[in-house]
Formats: sequence, structure tokens, C-alpha cells
Amino acid sequence: MGAMGKRKPSRSNPRIAVYPGTFDPVTNGHGDLVARAAPLFDRLIVAVAKSSGKAPRFEMDERVELARAALHGIANVEVRGFDTLLARFVIECGAGVILRGLRAVSDFEYEFQLASMNRHLIPQAETLFLTPAEEWGFISSSLVREIASLGGDVSDFVHPAVQKALRQRWRKPGGRAGSAVPRKSSR
Ligand code: COA
Repeated sequence: MGAMGKRKPSRSNPRIAVYPGTFDPVTNGHGDLVARAAPLFDRLIVAVAKSSGKAPRFEMDERVELARAALHGIANVEVRGFDTLLARFVIECGAGVILRGLRAVSDFEYEFQLASMNRHLIPQAETLFLTPAEEWGFISSSLVREIASLGGDVSDFVHPAVQKALRQRWRKPGGRAGSAVPRKSSR
């Protein structure tokens, strides 16, 4: 039994779910998943990990603010940052479900490992997977960052607040970051 498993498995509510991730930044793919999941639970806590090991481009507080802006209006959803073991955060929230997204088969191996480790650490919680709509299956935060950093148009993939933050992030004194990918026509 894992370290967390030695705790009394109480107060874990299957109607409360935690959706953890780095969200660097949140994308429409994450938004799609949250919109699908929110009606299934009483509370859905979008948990923004500090993830120092991933050296995120946006600070945790900024990622939390951007996720709040992007997910605003979806009922039952709250966004919180955390800088602890996920299992500990899930216990703190009294959640019985850890939610993750599966976009493609390539996600599976890592997700299987993460879910198995979390089951060991916190056996009273179940990991559930949802798939995003096909149109978001190819998005990732790093791809969005790369496109934005080269001056490409990411408006199809992120909320306007995120687009603005990305633009500010990569704006050079005196102009846009670049024009490697042409902007789409507004027609
Ligand atoms: N739409 C778009 N993109 C998605 C997506 C979706 N529905 N689902 C996942 N992704 C992308 C993310 O954008 C991210 O892309 P990137 O790597 O290109 O930036 C990638 O898939 C995976 O990132 P994310 O979902 O943020 O997961 P993660 O691997 O960064 O986060 C944590 C993993 C935060 C859940 C995990 O590290 C954790 O629990 N950390 C806390 C510390 C801890 O407890 N560690 C031990 C875990 S057992």
C-alpha cells in the first residue's frame, strides 16, 4: 500500500473531480474537456500544477488567471494552483476522481503510468479519461507556444485572453515577434 494509502480513505467524494495539468497555457482542447466533464460532477477543480520541472513559460499565477478567463462561464468549475504532490492536493479537495484527457494512443503510455502511480498513492480516487473533440486532438500547449513565438495565428486554438498573453510574451520592442506563419484572412 502506498504512503498516501495509509491514510484513512475518508471524505473522497466521487462527485468532486480534479483535472490536473500544467496548462502552459490553457487551450481550447482543455476547454473542450472541461465543458464535457463539468456536467458529470458537482464540482470540477481545474488544478494548475506549478510543474517547475517542466520550466513553464508562464508563472503559475498567470496560468491560473488565464485558465479562469478561458473557462469562465462553465458551471461547477473552479481553477486552483497547487505546488504539492497531486495525490495530496486531491485528498485536500476531498475529490474521488482525477480527470485526464486522452488525445491519441501516444498519450496512453504516460497516462497509464501516471494513473497507476496515483492509484498507488491515493487508492480512494479513480482516474477517469475523457477524449476531446476530434478537432482538438492535435493541439498541445507547446505547439501553441511555438506558433505564437514565431508570430503565427493561434486564435483558433486559444481563448482571446490567452492569445493576448502569448502576444505580450513574445512581443519584441517595436513590433510583433515575427511572421513565420502568415495570419489567416479574416474572411
Ligand atoms: N487539449 C490540448 N492539449 C492537451 C490536452 C487537451 N485536452 N490534454 C493534454 N494536453 C497537452 C498539454 O497541452 C501538454 O502539452 P505540452 O507538453 O506540449 O505542453 C501535454 O498534453 C501534457 O500536459 P498536461 O496535461 O499539462 O500534463 P502534464 O504532463 O504537464 O501534467 C501533472 C502532469 C501536472 C498532472 C503531473 O505532473 C502532476 O501530477 N504533477 C504534480 C506533482 C506530482 O504529484 N507528481 C507525481 C505524479 S504521480
